[in-house]
Amino acid sequence: MVSDLKVAVLGVGMMGSYHATTLSSLVRGATVTVVNDFSAERAAEVAAATGARVVDDPFAAIADPDVDAVVIATPGAAHEAQVLACLDRGIPVLCEKPLTTSIDTAYAVVKAEAALGRSLIQVGFMRRFDAEYAALRELIAKGGLGDPLLVHCTHRNPDVPPHFNSEMMIRDSVVHEVDVIRFLLDEEITSVQVTRGRPTPSAPEGVSDPMMVTFTTEGGRIATDEIFVRTGVAYEVRTEVVGSQGSAFIGLDQNMLVKSTDGRWGGSITPGFVERFGQAYVTELQRWVAAATEGTIDGPGAWDGYAAVAVCEAGVEAVLTGETVAVQMGPRP
Ligand SMILES: NC(=O)c1ccc[n+]([C@@H]2O[C@H](COP(=O)([O-])OP(=O)(O)OC[C@H]3O[C@@H](n4cnc5c(N)ncnc54)[C@H](O)[C@@H]3O)[C@@H](O)[C@H]2O)c1
Repeated sequence: MVSDLKVAVLGVGMMGSYHATTLSSLVRGATVTVVNDFSAERAAEVAAATGARVVDDPFAAIADPDVDAVVIATPGAAHEAQVLACLDRGIPVLCEKPLTTSIDTAYAVVKAEAALGRSLIQVGFMRRFDAEYAALRELIAKGGLGDPLLVHCTHRNPDVPPHFNSEMMIRDSVVHEVDVIRFLLDEEITSVQVTRGRPTPSAPEGVSDPMMVTFTTEGGRIATDEIFVRTGVAYEVRTEVVGSQGSAFIGLDQNMLVKSTDGRWGGSITPGFVERFGQAYVTELQRWVAAATEGTIDGPGAWDGYAAVAVCEAGVEAVLTGETVAVQMGPRP
């Protein structure tokens, strides 16, 4: 009998505690054996809920003999050192986005994994595990839309904390569309342009919310993303792909339950990302556990994490300068 994959979860704040609970309650073949967080209280709480043991130091957690694989859900600035420590130990790691917080460090991680000759790093772009995105990619890959020419994305949040500025809108929200566009079109993004619109009245001083982001790809395709994070409405994430032989749209079914009652027609929209992508997180973890048990990954890898960092870096420069900014990426090792 194969024993469960023993997983350490580093950083058990909002995302890490969600992953730890999902792993211990909904995912087959995994046991959360170790949790770590800078907040001892937080770690103790999640350890009690999952039956794990608290290890105070993140690197001691990675080195723990009772750990076969690691989920990293610490803030982005901590990722580089923690991912490299997993590579040093030769164990699989699911690292939440961003892979790291700079192009140079992300590329260094890509090269360190390549030098090892094994795919051990998976990055937490969970939309690839959402049934609608997967179906859309398959449709495109099979030629169902002819040549895909345009991708239109919409990313609306009901609200965000006041410190969530224009740069964070690119790095924390648009980053998901960056990965979606690369996933759907299977090619790299080469330039980014950002148009800062008239701000909604609830946007803090100096924050451009909404913004329109326009990407071009190496194949000359165009993708757009409306990013609007203080709509006051709900969590609305939609994607349309327009090809030479038709178009396809996702994000209506799961976002909206449309009903006719009481002489009215309409429905409710998912309030947040957990309601919209809850199943995608479960599928992401289930497939990662199955792959990690075999010592590998099954999903977006270090290169995808690096590409997203590079595109977002260009995106932030585009916000600040108003220019169209070329994405700078090194060769794939
Ligand atoms: N894929 C997604 O949909 C998604 C959604 C939200 C957040 N995230 C990502 O998940 C990560 C965590 O985000 P969050 O919203 O859960 O943040 P959070 O602040 O709620 O949690 C982070 C936790 O990490 C702890 N911590 C900080 N530095 C640490 C370190 N060096 N070692 C150990 N613990 C440390 C903090 O005490 C905190 O409890 C970020 O990288 C974020 O971008 C991904």
